Amino acid sequence: MATPIEKQQPKPAAEEVPDRKLYVTAADAQAFAEGVLRGNGTPADHARTVAECLVAADLRGVDTHGVNRLPSYMARVRAGVLDAAAAPTLTQATPAAAQVDGRNTFGAVAGLAAVRAAVDMARVYGIGMVSVTHSNHFGMSAWLVQKALDEGMMSLVFTNSSPALPAWGARNKLLGVSPIACGAPGADDESPFILDMAPSVAARGKVYKAKRRGEKIPLDWALDAEGRPTDDPAAALEGVMLPMGGPKGSALSIMMDVFSGVFSGSAFAGHVTNPYDPSKPADAGHFLVAIKPDLFMSLADFRERMKYLYDRVVKESEPAAGVERIFFPGEIEQRTERERRSSGIPYVEAEVRALNEEANRVGASPIRVMEGSGESEEAGH
Ligand SMILES: NC(=O)c1ccc[n+]([C@@H]2O[C@H](COP(=O)([O-])OP(=O)(O)OC[C@H]3O[C@@H](n4cnc5c(N)ncnc54)[C@H](O)[C@@H]3O)[C@@H](O)[C@H]2O)c1
Repeated sequence: MATPIEKQQPKPAAEEVPDRKLYVTAADAQAFAEGVLRGNGTPADHARTVAECLVAADLRGVDTHGVNRLPSYMARVRAGVLDAAAAPTLTQATPAAAQVDGRNTFGAVAGLAAVRAAVDMARVYGIGMVSVTHSNHFGMSAWLVQKALDEGMMSLVFTNSSPALPAWGARNKLLGVSPIACGAPGADDESPFILDMAPSVAARGKVYKAKRRGEKIPLDWALDAEGRPTDDPAAALEGVMLPMGGPKGSALSIMMDVFSGVFSGSAFAGHVTNPYDPSKPADAGHFLVAIKPDLFMSLADFRERMKYLYDRVVKESEPAAGVERIFFPGEIEQRTERERRSSGIPYVEAEVRALNEEANRVGASPIRVMEGSGESEEAGH
């Protein structure tokens, strides 16, 4: 049987450099993730979908929502609180509105079913809205936005999530760090508009990542259990994340709960289960809208107007002191993806070890590290 880190062995455990970067191609990351998912009883099509969603996050530099999420997802499958094999069902409410029941399977699987249904309706009626109930954490929202873009559609992608933020003025966790995402085709397929942001100063995944990597966090990200600013990720996870823009961030999180939780029939108001808690189903809800961009003008005109907007924002803005370049929403992640598709995805050695332990549990193949992996950049995030 292959050793856990093929190209790095033999190496005594004491010599491991936990934060040394090892590079993995997107295809190998996909194969690894599919192997672990299938080893835990996930059917091949679901495994392909979930792996694609996780690898897409790693490619875009959203490392907080990539393949490193596998151990927590698999713990939930093994604990029987996430049904890896369930097939989501679709119920049509009106010609342009439908509900997907995720039946407690992976959020990426339920989310993809919802995007497909929304796009199908939007092709006929110009707009399609899908509410998703009984779902799980779906990772990086931009993956679903990109799926709509691949079909030429504008989209809104909302989700609720487990308590992490206080209501403005409170110090207890109640609201989710629930991302708000949307997209629209750009001048060409290489330059879409993709906004994908958590309503907190930082996504909680960034705190988990810092903890995993033994790093400190900025003092304005979170409060500890006593309500004091902290740079210790473990203490931050005991306390609350801070909403961006004070009451505005907390209001955006409530908005995600209204559209994704209250509206869908899923859990809300602090009752979605944390994806790292394998004690009970998550019951997360999502809300997706697909819109045809050429409803009111030709597609060529729409793209031309998007190009004008891009140029005004990116090329004609005057950079503030110390700023080298202005970026369009999603552009940094698109550049990171282009780079990582050629250079490989960087994981740190400690992460590779943890992932391989996960593979070992179910007899799946270890992650294959690129020849000559060493220390280098980490773009974007
Ligand atoms: N599924 C869940 O429950 C869940 C929960 C929280 C976060 N997430 C995911 O975590 C990810 C990270 O969220 P985040 O808020 O930390 O993202 P972020 O702060 O890195 O980016 C937010 C947005 O700002 C844009 N942006 C960033 N820097 C920019 C710059 N210099 N110029 C112009 N635009 C810029 C990005 O393109 C992005 O659209 C998202 O993909 C989100 O979907 C998922």
